[in-house]
Amino acid sequence: MASNSNSSAAAPPAPETPEDQYFNTNPPPKDLDRHVALARDFINFHAAAGRPLVLVTSGGTTVPLEKQTVRFIDNFSAGTRGATSAEYFLEAGYAVLFLHRQFSLLPFSRHYSHATDCFLDFLREGPDGSVVARDEDAGKMLHVLRQYRDARDRNLLLVLPFVSISDYLHELRSVTRLLRPLGPQALLYLAAAVSDFFVPPERMSEHKIQSTNAVDSVQKGNKTAPTTTDEEIFDNFDSSPAVPRSKRLVVDLDPVPKFLKNLVEGWSPQGMIVSFKLETDPTILVHKARYSLERYQHHLVIGNLLSTRKWEVVFVAPGLPDRWIRIPIHKQQHKSIADGGSAAATPAEELEPEAAAVEKDEP
Ligand code: PMT
Repeated sequence: MASNSNSSAAAPPAPETPEDQYFNTNPPPKDLDRHVALARDFINFHAAAGRPLVLVTSGGTTVPLEKQTVRFIDNFSAGTRGATSAEYFLEAGYAVLFLHRQFSLLPFSRHYSHATDCFLDFLREGPDGSVVARDEDAGKMLHVLRQYRDARDRNLLLVLPFVSISDYLHELRSVTRLLRPLGPQALLYLAAAVSDFFVPPERMSEHKIQSTNAVDSVQKGNKTAPTTTDEEIFDNFDSSPAVPRSKRLVVDLDPVPKFLKNLVEGWSPQGMIVSFKLETDPTILVHKARYSLERYQHHLVIGNLLSTRKWEVVFVAPGLPDRWIRIPIHKQQHKSIADGGSAAATPAEELEPEAAAVEKDEP
């Protein structure tokens, strides 16, 4: 009997991986199923036509501090790199899945939606009371309009939004898994600015975090006025006695697992994967980009510095020397790297680091 029951006993469940743990405890975005259905149709449509597909991620992820979110931490990104690159991928014949931070820049409309490029500035009143493009802007506007219409009419661009880090990771995992059967026909271009730290759900407040103790008694079911004073809350372990503890918000963040590894090894192991590395300290950029490439074993890391990201990037690829692409100072007013700097780079614009220092010192 004992041996029988042993042999028929189910195998113990596999231990939960850190990936399962993250995705089981951080809820998916409410639109995930709808987005997955849209992405599936889009991918099938273009795969059947033999068209190459690229997933472009763009914009910054938020880290909510409350479940019903009033406050959040954000990652810097306007979405310029992603939106501009998407236009170039379309021009190169790709169908583009554009996974972007809600309300960040979008391909085509980005030309007219930045704070310095308000669309109203490009319009004037026509003679019959109509609204028309200003003569000096009409040529460029017509060009952008035609590209936009072409992408829309030929179903070449699918735009999917995310907000928080967990929305982004759920969407990224689902979409890259859908791309998996395409193998190297699928390009993953990860330009989004992804949070490294987050508040795990079990430590996240359900409601807006209070800045005073005015509702303490209400929350405890005691209707008498609160009696705790700031002085009583302050204690000897307080590292900043100048501000009473009751008035400070101490945020304790966990690291977000590095899912690039899971993406490369499991979600889309044969896809062509390009990641970006953002730093602020120039002395560590190339080292960190190379480290990321070696650690995750993908195809290309594009390094950039926050302060110069529009004018210079470094390509770090396996077995190849680092390749800097820069826009010379005198051209920087007119275009950025994302606006064709790399595509249009002449030998004089592609500089080795030492030569670039000279270029950068030009007036
Ligand atoms: O939008 P713009 O204003 O034009 O700015 C563009 C940009 C600077 C945001 C863009 O060029 C860029 O560098 N994007 C990547 C920013 C980023 O997340 O860098 P990172 O060093 O924190 O992460 C490096 C890589 O690790 C990224 O590919 C990211 O997808 C991945 N990562 C990050 C965090 C995390 N928890 N898991 C990850 O897998």
